[in-house]
Amino acid sequence: PRKIIIDTDPGQDDAVAILLALASPEEIELLGITCVAGNVPLALTARNARIVCELAGRPDMKVFAGCDRPLARDLVTAEYVHGKTGLDGPDLPEPTMPLQQQHAVDFIIETLRNAQQGAVSLCPLGPLTNIATAFKTAPDIIEKVDEIILMGGAYFEVGNVTPAAEFNIYVDPQAADAVFRSGVKLTVMPLDVTHKALVTQERNDAFRALGTPVGIAVAQMTEFFERYDKDKYGSPGAPLHDPCVTAYLIRPELFSGRHVNVEIETASPLTLGMSVADWWGVSDRAPNALFMGDLHADGFFDLLTERLARL
Ligand code: BDR
Ligand code: CA
Repeated sequence: PRKIIIDTDPGQDDAVAILLALASPEEIELLGITCVAGNVPLALTARNARIVCELAGRPDMKVFAGCDRPLARDLVTAEYVHGKTGLDGPDLPEPTMPLQQQHAVDFIIETLRNAQQGAVSLCPLGPLTNIATAFKTAPDIIEKVDEIILMGGAYFEVGNVTPAAEFNIYVDPQAADAVFRSGVKLTVMPLDVTHKALVTQERNDAFRALGTPVGIAVAQMTEFFERYDKDKYGSPGAPLHDPCVTAYLIRPELFSGRHVNVEIETASPLTLGMSVADWWGVSDRAPNALFMGDLHADGFFDLLTERLARL
């Protein structure tokens, strides 16, 4: 299995991404979950990550709290999408498993320093503050990373939090810029892909029909979270953004994209946090990311449902 650290701001879709990873030990060895401020403040993301581990029957998983604000801006949150707790929908118990004492950034640094080169990949599902801070604090770890597979950005779909920007990049554009310039092998799941991972009624019924606490909780999470996309975009259901990252680790053939140059806007007030992807290769800037463009949605939901049934 691939050794990974999930860096996250749960978030219902983050929760599903974590559940998919925990359900797939043959393909994914989850070394730890590092939390960051994003959808909701840090205290809640660190709480929600532990709720999800306990839901999956994994109170032994190491969960760390990291940066509580972006590198250079005030925190922007998304309670209007995810609810007051960030994990609204199911009625899940408060976690009893411990939060690790170590700072998330120190865990990322220590894990990479102790690993062979290319042994550990990073899977960011929220703003990139923890990852950028780790790279800035310990530049020696950058070459140790096998790959970063992240959810963030957009090209044809442009933006969801502003007309130009996707939430994860917008919240901390300076951090995103540092990660996209880091030279690490990058695979990006932008809105162009994640807006194809839509939970239709039929797909949600399949989660619920699992009849397990996990299946029912996932159905309730997506039912809560879909109201925003339905009202705002006329979407038929909730987009499962973050699970695209963990699904890619299990079934990369479900996704297709292009190796392109991607740069992040860090200054313009109008387009702050925009991911400028050279999809058509019109610049001479060197490709730095595999930027995904398409998803086999039925294959994705078959995989997800089959894996959630294992928990
Ligand atoms: C991203 O923003 C968050 O609201 C979701 O969890 C996802 O990571 C989508 O833009
Ligand atoms: Ca997220």
